[in-house]
Amino acid sequence: MLSETDVLALAKSRRPNHSLPRPFYVDPGVFRVDMDRIWYREWLFSIPACEIPKKGNYVVHNVGDYSAIIVRGEDGVIRAFHNSCRHRGSVVCNKPKGSRPKLVCPYHQWTYRLDGSLAFARDMGPDFDPKEHGLRPIHCREVAGLVYICLAETAPPFEDFAAEAARYLAPHDLVHSKIAFESTIVEKGNWKLVWENNRECYHCKSNHPALCRTFPEDARLIGNGAGGLANELDVHVARCEAVGAPSAYEVAPDGVWRFVRTPLLEGAESYTMDGKAAVAKPNSTIPFKDAGSLLKFLYPGTWNHFLSDHAIVFRVTPISAMETEVTTKWLVHENAVEGVDYDLQRLTEVWMATNAEDQKVVEDNQRGILSPGYRPGPYSLDHEAGVIQFGDWYADTLLRTAPERQLLAAE
Ligand code: FES
Ligand SMILES: [Fe+2]
Repeated sequence: MLSETDVLALAKSRRPNHSLPRPFYVDPGVFRVDMDRIWYREWLFSIPACEIPKKGNYVVHNVGDYSAIIVRGEDGVIRAFHNSCRHRGSVVCNKPKGSRPKLVCPYHQWTYRLDGSLAFARDMGPDFDPKEHGLRPIHCREVAGLVYICLAETAPPFEDFAAEAARYLAPHDLVHSKIAFESTIVEKGNWKLVWENNRECYHCKSNHPALCRTFPEDARLIGNGAGGLANELDVHVARCEAVGAPSAYEVAPDGVWRFVRTPLLEGAESYTMDGKAAVAKPNSTIPFKDAGSLLKFLYPGTWNHFLSDHAIVFRVTPISAMETEVTTKWLVHENAVEGVDYDLQRLTEVWMATNAEDQKVVEDNQRGILSPGYRPGPYSLDHEAGVIQFGDWYADTLLRTAPERQLLAAE
C-alpha cells in the first residue's frame, strides 16, 4: 500500500497522454488519497430533487466513510446533514430512503426537526442546550432540479458551475419530473476506469450496438477529439440556441465540468432502438424532437444526458480500490404516464444494455491492469482527448488540494 507521498510523486511523474501507472487503479493507498483529496472535498451530485418531492422525504447518500441524509424540510428546502447522531453518534437514518415528520435516532430517540435542529432529548438535565446539538450540516445546493453536496468543511467554489448548469438546463424541467426507473450496478473496477471509459467512444463501435444506432462515435461532435469541433456540431448548436436552448461546448477552466449539446445520428430523437422519442409528454421545452443530447459532466461524481423528451442522470461512487457503484436514473415529465406516454422497456433498453456492456469492458480493463505485466499505454488523440482531459484534471486535483483530514488534524 503506497504512502501519500509516494502517490503524489507517482502522479507528478506520470507519462502524459498515457494511461496511469498500475497503482492508481489497484492500490488501497491510492484509493485513500483519492477519497481524502477528491471525494471528500469536491462537489458531488447526490439525487434529482424530484426524488424527495414532499417535506420529510429523505434519502441517505453514502460516500466512503461518510453518510449523508438529504431531506426536504417543512419549508420545501432540501438540506443535507451528517448521518451521525449528536448524542453518541449512531446513524439516525438506517434505511436508504423514506419519509418522516421528524428524524428520530434509533438508539435513544433523540429527535431532530427536518432542518436538523434538535427537538427532543429525554432527561439530559438542566444545563443541556438543544441548540448546540443539531445535526451537523453538509454543504448542499439544488440547481435546476439536481441536488449536489460537498462533504468538506470548506467547499470549493460552486457558483460558476451553478450558473452554467442553471443556464444549460433551463429548457429541461427536472423540477417537474419524476424517476421513471433506476438501476444500480457495482462494477469490479476502479472509479477512474469507469470515468476513462465514459470519456471516450473509441470503444463504442465494437461494444455498444444499441447505443450506436443513435449516438455518434465522432469525438469532434463532443469535443473529445484533438481535431477540434465538427462543423455539424456548429450547425446543431446554432439551431438549438436559436430556440433558446444553450448548447455550445463549454468546459471549466480547471476542467471539472463540461456542457455540450451534441446531435444524434441522422435526426434521431432519443436513445431508443428506432431513434424515435421514448416519451410522448416531454420534460423539455425545446420545440423540436431532434435536439440531440445535452451532455454534462461534473467530476468526480456524475455525467448526464438531457434529451428533448427525457433525461438520464448517472452517479458514480467508489466503493473500494477495485469496486465502483454506478446508479442510473431515467427522468420523465411528472405527468407522463407509464404505458400511455412511455413504455418502460423502450425508454430504458438502450442504456441498460450500454451500462452492462460498459461494466464488462471496465471489468476486463481492471483485470488486465491487475496483472504486474501491465504497462501504461498511449491514448488516441483522435478519440481519447476526453480521457486525457480527465487524467489531467485528476492529477492536477490530487496535487493541488490539501486533504481534509490534515486540516482537521491541524486544528
Ligand atoms: S446515539 Fe442517538 S440518541 Fe443516543
Ligand atoms: Fe461505453
